[in-house]
Amino acid sequence: MSNKFKVGIIGCGGISHSHLHGYRALSDRVEITACCDIDEEKAKEYAKRNGIARAYGSCEEMLANEKLDLCSVTTWNSAHVSCAVAALEAGCHVLCEKPLSLNADEALRMQSAARKAGKLLMPGFVRRHGNDAAAAIDLIEKGYLGEIYFAKATYLRRNGFPGGWFGDKSRSGGGPLIDLGVHIIDLTRYIMGNPKPVSVYGATFDKLGARENIRTDGWVSETKTDRPIFDVEDLAVAMIRFDNGALLSVETSFNLNLKHGANDIELFGTKAGLTLSPFELHGELNNRLADIALAGDNDFHFERDFDREMKNFVDAADGKASPLATAEDGVQLMRILDAVYRSAETGETVFL
Ligand SMILES: NC(=O)c1ccc[n+]([C@@H]2O[C@H](COP(=O)([O-])OP(=O)(O)OC[C@H]3O[C@@H](n4cnc5c(N)ncnc54)[C@H](O)[C@@H]3O)[C@@H](O)[C@H]2O)c1
Repeated sequence: MSNKFKVGIIGCGGISHSHLHGYRALSDRVEITACCDIDEEKAKEYAKRNGIARAYGSCEEMLANEKLDLCSVTTWNSAHVSCAVAALEAGCHVLCEKPLSLNADEALRMQSAARKAGKLLMPGFVRRHGNDAAAAIDLIEKGYLGEIYFAKATYLRRNGFPGGWFGDKSRSGGGPLIDLGVHIIDLTRYIMGNPKPVSVYGATFDKLGARENIRTDGWVSETKTDRPIFDVEDLAVAMIRFDNGALLSVETSFNLNLKHGANDIELFGTKAGLTLSPFELHGELNNRLADIALAGDNDFHFERDFDREMKNFVDAADGKASPLATAEDGVQLMRILDAVYRSAETGETVFL
């Protein structure tokens, strides 16, 4: 009998292919034995195309019929909580795509299900696995930046609504903040040493909407909606203060009338600043202002780093590594996002 980890895929859409790719690179340790999707035909077709033995029309059915060790939750956001909790209760370690959930209450339910089951719940914060994150943390830990007191996280698309369910608040939980902002807020917090958020001021706008008359230049949802729906924000801005006194300014959009889109993080310290894309330090050298680029690969590469994320999940489930992202990180992120949306509604600062 095989002693490989048995894996189930919950949600057979776009990002699940990156999970498959990562598991396949570990085929000596894991075996993808089942998949499911609420669109059962899609699950069957997906199983056939990818050589997966069995396909189901719901995760409950899959979990009842299979003895799985690991599950990837790659559904739209609103199904994360029910699918992840069901998989944890069935005794699986779970890698759940970002954002962990629609809000902090759901994230706490997931965290508590993981604790109760004694299983791993890892949020899919893929950006934590890049060389840029590792190089930044190395420099910061060795004191090259001094005290970091301000940071900027920017993920602005000029025209990049992914379509489908991403515009449907009931399934996504929101617009660019919960879809794109989640990556850069988490990454900044991770690089800064996971400080706790203490207060948040935010604003959201829906002035341009979906703008689907122009072709999108970002990720595109595989799932099409039968009617166009866009009841989420198209731009979100926020100021987040952490318990170490540092301030993070966030800007993120699906649509915005700017010239160039941006996906970058900037950290400002007492000794030097750091931009991630391109990876460069900004400080002083010999009484002159200096910009220092490090030689080598200090970038994030989606495919390579997704494979690393999958390996980290399998290693952590196997007790061979610590997960780079924990359920607690997922909860903290959802607390921040909840606070941005609450502040945007009330116009007030939200204290956490
Ligand atoms: N890490 C990244 O960089 C990244 C990139 C893209 C998407 N994502 C995340 O991945 C998730 C999926 O996004 P996508 O673009 O692949 O969407 P998608 O629309 O391509 O696929 C989602 C699939 O989930 C299925 N589904 C919905 N509810 C289900 C349920 N209860 N049980 C089983 N299947 C269900 C849908 O039928 C669909 O096939 C989202 O949470 C998104 O935020 C992450």
